[in-house]
Amino acid sequence: MLNKSQPGGRKSYSRRDFLKVTGICATALSLPLRSGSLSARENDAFFRAYVLPPLDEGVRKANQVNFILNLKRGYQSFFPGQQTATFGINQAYAGQVLRIRKGDKAVFRVNNQLGEDTALHWHGLRLPAAMDGGPHQIIPHAGSWLSTFQVRQAASTCWYHSHQHKRTGPQVYQGLAGMLIIDDEAGDALDIPKRYGVDDLPVIIQDRDFNQDGSFLYVSSMPERMHGKHGVYVLVNGAVTPTLKAKSTLLRLRVLNGSNARLYHLAFHDKRPFQVIASDGGFLDKPVTVRQQRLAVGERVEILVDVSDRREIILKSLPADAGGGMGMGMMGGMFDGEMDIMKIDARQAEVSPHKVPKTLVSPEKVDPASATVRRSMVMSMGGMMGGGGGMMGRMMGSGGGMFTINGRSMDMSRIDFSVRRDVPEIWEVGNDSPMHHPFHVHNVQFQVLDRNGGPVEVHETGLKDTVLINPREQVRILLVFRDYVDETLPYMYHCHNLEHEDQGMMGQFTVV
Ligand code: C2O
Ligand code: CU
Ligand code: CU
Repeated sequence: MLNKSQPGGRKSYSRRDFLKVTGICATALSLPLRSGSLSARENDAFFRAYVLPPLDEGVRKANQVNFILNLKRGYQSFFPGQQTATFGINQAYAGQVLRIRKGDKAVFRVNNQLGEDTALHWHGLRLPAAMDGGPHQIIPHAGSWLSTFQVRQAASTCWYHSHQHKRTGPQVYQGLAGMLIIDDEAGDALDIPKRYGVDDLPVIIQDRDFNQDGSFLYVSSMPERMHGKHGVYVLVNGAVTPTLKAKSTLLRLRVLNGSNARLYHLAFHDKRPFQVIASDGGFLDKPVTVRQQRLAVGERVEILVDVSDRREIILKSLPADAGGGMGMGMMGGMFDGEMDIMKIDARQAEVSPHKVPKTLVSPEKVDPASATVRRSMVMSMGGMMGGGGGMMGRMMGSGGGMFTINGRSMDMSRIDFSVRRDVPEIWEVGNDSPMHHPFHVHNVQFQVLDRNGGPVEVHETGLKDTVLINPREQVRILLVFRDYVDETLPYMYHCHNLEHEDQGMMGQFTVV
């Protein structure tokens, strides 16, 4: 069990307790991979219904769209008879799905009623530094923040979440996160599922632990601080391992890894193939068929799933296989076991009017030969490499120096470097630690050139804002920052493992 006892003797709400409460046999939660229909017991594990987050399209006047987002505390029931204290955005837990169009002027009024400071970041968006919602755009309790920007990027699935300095992990864990969808004409013109809630469905995956009293159990041990928070329960749009009743035989799932730290290896229990159609920055030039898709924290992938056989299938996360690049020795398997995510019951599905298309939309690419600037970055976990017993001291102490990029921990008053607008750069991002780190850059959708000089993953052929860096891997990315300059206000680049980020694995750059 990954749950830990609470200091003070309060017991955590473990999976065993959960099974007792619900009367489910433990084998139901660890199905072997196979085809065929599910047993009654297996079905029981997925008794909750899939929750479709309400769509918030703002209030539109011509091409200006106004949103009001109220950040506040609430309660949500994740388990029968239990109430969990949460953070929410216009609802009890997490945020609604916001929808904007390329060409819009988006206006977000963000009101903070949480009782603590926060910041709200638009992850994946190209926008002025002052509108980014990073750690410099603090919204004090009872305060309000206005973020306005022109939407200048392609149709894609992005998200928004807390970016409060050193508090991003706990705030996102409690619920400060949601999906943001961008539409454009090229996307509208595709013959693919796009009826929200019918055949176009958000799947926001977050793992959580709970205390016996129903409250969220956040980081409670040294290994968790080091690995980042991993929970034994998987929420999809705020519901624990739910069942989606498919209304159509071809489903488009917009999958967002909104977890704090967990890496998922998505696959269906019967190993059926599915198509990857989009990554962080929008569509791939054509659908690519896979049977498994890796998704690190912060990454998004849109997939098409054919359920015309009208069965019940389970979306799972498989354990990282030996060749999966984990290679972490003692750090390995511990947080990387098999998990159920959700069931799709397609028995009542109607025939989809769509087929998997041959082509999609080619992302706008830049010639790597045009890059004149090179930077190299290395993500490290200081004490672990050097031996010398520094690790515990650093983790217990002031927090400086343990999680670094190029040997430095985040400092709000230090700008690490400046990039020139419109000048392509190649960044070589390395990882000399024994853990994987999802590397994220604000205000840009970049190209992934290679991994250790070799090929990239399927979803990395599209535009990305977050890319997984495995231990001892070096990934080269090509970035161009367009549109906005600001001599003083920086953007962030960081590990999107939120506990690593909070402990300093972050830096700042300006665009000049
Ligand atoms: Cu998704 Cu700097 O964040
Ligand atoms: Cu971001
Ligand atoms: Cu990290």
